[in-house]
Amino acid sequence: MFTFQVTKNDDASAARLGRLSTSHGVFDTPIFMPVGTQATVKAVTPEMLTEMGAGIILSNTYHLYLRPGADLVERAGGLHKFMNWPRGILTDSGGFQIFSLQGLRKISDEGVVFNSHIDGSRHFLSPQIVMEIEQKLGADIAMCFDECAPYPCSYEEADQAVTRTSLWAKRCRDSHNCSDQALFGIIQGNIFADLREKSAREITALDFPGYAIGGLSVGEPKEDMYRILDLTHQLLPTDKPRYLMGVGAPEDLVEGVARGVDMFDCVLPTRIARHGTAFTHRGKLVVRNAVYAADFRALDTDCDCRVCKNYSRAYIRHLVKAEEILAHTLITYHNLYFLIKMMQDIRQAIAEDRFNEFYTNFYASYKF
Ligand code: GUN
Ligand code: ZN
Repeated sequence: MFTFQVTKNDDASAARLGRLSTSHGVFDTPIFMPVGTQATVKAVTPEMLTEMGAGIILSNTYHLYLRPGADLVERAGGLHKFMNWPRGILTDSGGFQIFSLQGLRKISDEGVVFNSHIDGSRHFLSPQIVMEIEQKLGADIAMCFDECAPYPCSYEEADQAVTRTSLWAKRCRDSHNCSDQALFGIIQGNIFADLREKSAREITALDFPGYAIGGLSVGEPKEDMYRILDLTHQLLPTDKPRYLMGVGAPEDLVEGVARGVDMFDCVLPTRIARHGTAFTHRGKLVVRNAVYAADFRALDTDCDCRVCKNYSRAYIRHLVKAEEILAHTLITYHNLYFLIKMMQDIRQAIAEDRFNEFYTNFYASYKF
């Protein structure tokens, strides 16, 4: 029940429009996926996500495996039912989370031994086990178990992660047997062009219904990320969706789309919201700052979201200062709406052959 069609290619860039069909809805791409690590997008309800136009959200295998456990989610009828989210879900495989854990972990070709960040208990995950867990969670899209090398890292380290990611991708593909779930492959290779090429060649040879670009936005300079994206999209089949993992700053969405990316996810909009920062068409606005104490304008005067229609900077700043949890809800709602609306605007611009103009206008108004 998973299909993807490119409906239009931009003439002046690698940007494209597409349509992704899953058994939980049809989604136009390029798309931004809000992150709901623990089967909840922090501070907002599924009803709010529907209202703001979210199509597909991301959840994390690592977190849900540890708590509440994949068997419980399966008994609930799968992740969609468990969290009351009727639209699309993608589960990340957990590799990335485990590799960013501090402390004890042991990686071999068989899998990873690690300690839970919750209670320190020891666990083992392999490609086969991760596929079982992701199938129990029942997302529309599952990700292969991969090894993401850190930044900076040596060429040898990055090479080893590519080799292991390919080995694991084959094991994932061979053990994944759920017809109602699409399994995406992940390209690694850090900032090394020849390793990206090797990874793309090996992963695409396994013929997945979609491909993710992993191992970026891990601390490398933006020019390196854009350079790798320039290279990678040319190595991927044009008829399959391309997903840039963990990227969601407004400028990176624009740059990613220009380089042929169809899907994005990032904790940034929800995380900065909880620290009192809002996206606006003119750049980030730190609403907790004293200058907004008596500013009765909307967070973003160019936004038509429910928060911007009804609440002022002054009120939201008051909530932030008083540590009221409504502050998290209001800023999160706006930030997610901002990115979802921005992707809608990008899709419209591509459809009307003016993505180039959108790009220029974005940089003219968005201040860093
Ligand atoms: N999220 C952000 N980057 C990555 C990556 O390289 N691999 C996985 N599995 N998830 C990610
Ligand atoms: Zn708004």
